[in-house]
Amino acid sequence: MNSQVSVLGYWEDEEALNQECKTLLPSLPKENGWADTQLYQYQGFWYTARSLQGVLTCQKHFQANPDDLFIITTPKAGTTWLKALAFTIVNRNQYSSFNHPLLTSNPHELVPYLEFNLFINNQIPDLTSFSSPRLFSSHLCYKSLPNSIKQLDCKLVYLCRDPRDTFISLWHFTNKLRAKTLGNLSLDEEFEKFCRGVCVNGPIWDHILGYWNESLESPDRVLFLKYEEMKMQPSVQLRKLAKFLGCPFSEEEEKEGMVEEILKLCSFDHLKNLNVNKNGKTKFGVEHTAYFRRGEVGDWVNHLTPEMMKQFEQIMEDKFHGSGLTF
Ligand code: A3P
Repeated sequence: MNSQVSVLGYWEDEEALNQECKTLLPSLPKENGWADTQLYQYQGFWYTARSLQGVLTCQKHFQANPDDLFIITTPKAGTTWLKALAFTIVNRNQYSSFNHPLLTSNPHELVPYLEFNLFINNQIPDLTSFSSPRLFSSHLCYKSLPNSIKQLDCKLVYLCRDPRDTFISLWHFTNKLRAKTLGNLSLDEEFEKFCRGVCVNGPIWDHILGYWNESLESPDRVLFLKYEEMKMQPSVQLRKLAKFLGCPFSEEEEKEGMVEEILKLCSFDHLKNLNVNKNGKTKFGVEHTAYFRRGEVGDWVNHLTPEMMKQFEQIMEDKFHGSGLTF
């Protein structure tokens, strides 16, 4: 890989895109992205060209099953954690903590993204090896989800995180993906873009509100979780998640300490220190270590200036006012 090009840039060769995507791109609003890529606005949200191809392909070809389960987040909301937890809950009768797939696979391999993994190559993937209920993930906003997911009332678990922590986490993550020779991104510049909604899958406020409103309207179909609440009350949130996914913990499991066992298996410290996550890479060349940084609430206070904090507060007040959603 060219050392001047980031991991993202390497995968963003626009020449390699399919014709549909190539034809669409010139008609879309365009901005410089965070890494050395362009972002395009499609259906109100920002994507790299390559992930847009994945979005278009899965919108056209993904056919949901009624019992499919979806993990949905904005990037850096805690997707890795939620994937690990949901996979473990749903498959808990198949594995013990000795032969568990999380010991040898990164959570992103176990619960693939529709648009970033399965459909990114402009091909219809063979999903026959997925056992039921199939577990998928996505960073798509609600209105851009493939139609069959909505038509079949599939269950969606949405995890949101305080946008200030999401921003800082995204800034660190993107720095890790950039070519070392390019140095770190300017926090000021990325802050300005983030506030305008220009970041992968942004505007984050609209993304969050889309699922928040759906969860209020259809709580049986959309479970809305917060990273901060999962950190504060992990066992309460885990029980809620298991119940929503259709496999609540039995009395016997509770007595055996299953909740604590799952939380331990999927904990930040445990996952971060597994060999597969210390040394492995995704198919796209992202080092697994990049998904595990601090895993804490409130790290934004260590990065944002008082002016940035004020601006963030104002935007969050404006955007979430009247929605009932607070951070
Ligand atoms: P920080 O950068 O604040 O540390 P995503 O999985 O959506 O990419 O989000 C990554 C964020 O979730 C990172 O946040 C990462 O450290 C944190 N994270 C990863 N695994 C976690 C876990 N098991 N428990 C809590 N947080 C976790």
